This record gives sequence, C-alpha cells and structure tokens, in this order.
Amino acid sequence: MRNPIIAALDVPTEEQALKLALEVAPAVGAFKIGSELFSAAGPDIVQRVHDTGAAVFLDLKFHDIPNTVAKAVAAAVRLDVQMLTIHTCGGLEMMRAAEESAQQTALRSGRNAPLVLGVTVLTSHDSNTLNEIGCEANVGRQVERLAQLAVQAGLRGLVCSPLEIVDLRQILPEMIQLVTPGIRTGAEPADDQKRTLTPREAMNAGASWLVIGRPIYAASNPREAAECILKTLT
Ligand code: C5P
Repeated sequence: MRNPIIAALDVPTEEQALKLALEVAPAVGAFKIGSELFSAAGPDIVQRVHDTGAAVFLDLKFHDIPNTVAKAVAAAVRLDVQMLTIHTCGGLEMMRAAEESAQQTALRSGRNAPLVLGVTVLTSHDSNTLNEIGCEANVGRQVERLAQLAVQAGLRGLVCSPLEIVDLRQILPEMIQLVTPGIRTGAEPADDQKRTLTPREAMNAGASWLVIGRPIYAASNPREAAECILKTLT
C-alpha cells in the first residue's frame, strides 16, 4: 500500500520544517509546503524537504490569468514538486493552461508531471461568504460545479473537505485523486476544523490522500503520532 499521509509542514521557519521533516519522513508519504513556510524560507525549502526522501506537495493555490498561472506552474515543476494546487474558480482556461504547463514542463525536464489539484470552495466559506461574492449560495452545488469544471479542464485531482468525498465520488471519474484535509483521530482537539473525519473514515469514503497538520506536528512525539495514524490504515 502507498502511504497516503501528507504531513503539513505548517511551521514558520526552515529550521523547524527540516527538523520535523527529518523526524517524520519514514512514516509519511509526502510533505505539504504552504504559503507561510514558502514565503519565509524561499523556494530552496522544496529541495531540502525533498532530500528527506519524501514527495513534496506545494500548496500555493495559484489563481491568476492563464499565462501567469502557467508560468508559476512551470516554475513549481522545475522545483520537482509531486503535487501543487490551483483555484478552480480561476476558470476553465486557467486550469487548462496549468495542466498543460505541468505536462509540457515535466516532459521537457524529463520528470513525471505533478498532480495539479483543483481547490473548489474553501472550507472557511459558507453560503453567506459565497453570496457576498455573487456565487451560487449552496456550497455543495458550487463544489460540484467547480469539480466538474476541473475534470473538464483535464485536472486529475481535487482538494476537498472530508464530508464532500462521498458526493464527489458519485459524480467524478474514478481516476480523479481526492486530497482531503480536516482529518482528526479523535485523540486531539478539532481546533478550527469544523467538519472532520478520522483517517480510516476518510479513506473508506474514497479519499486518495490525507493532509494532516496539527495531529502530527503539534503532537508531543510527531513520528509516533504519524506511525499510529498509519497503523489505523493498514
Ligand atoms: O492542522 P490541520 O490538520 O487542521 O491542517 C490542515 C492543513 O490543510 C492546513 O495546512 C490547512 O491550511 C490545509 N487545508 C485545510 N482546509 C482546506 C484546504 C487546506 O485545512 N480546505
């Protein structure tokens, strides 16, 4: 079995990130680098994390005109990331440009193309925030609409909340990979995550990858925490 755990390196400095990555690498399948760490440590952090032997998920959620997103994706591919995120509300043309850039740049540099993941509706949004920006106020329907648009654009994966997995699996082609944050084992606080599933429940629902932050990095022994989670999945 491929290890589906993606440990989020949600720490503010390179030093903390590398310490955590070295400790946890044998127990996880990949590390997620988000905008905080990337902005603080710079692009070199990707290679350093990669050197621990793990795959890197670069979560910068690109959203811009198609040409700019294509160039940002190309730069990320050259950093040798295995997954990256874009906002699906950037539209069909932007998503197509991102996927095409990932494929072409990977081909030119002799690498496998990374998985370009579409982010649909942020889990911090509800019907009020969607209304505010003039979108379909039903969150579930907006998620489905954006997910189908992502598939139409050729994306091969999406980020979704654990409670969206079952509905999305009904309408999406089987090959689409679903990456799910909002995972809690029950042993730690839910923190600001309102809709959570356990790692086992999320995998049973149809998740392909689990993004896990605080249950690992805030644990007194992060390696042991990751190993315990992995054990529940085997
Ligand atoms: O600490 P926790 O397990 O809640 O961290 C979840 C990670 O997934 C964080 O890096 C967070 O930014 C990210 N994320 C999320 N919800 C989304 C998208 C990303 O929690 N909808």
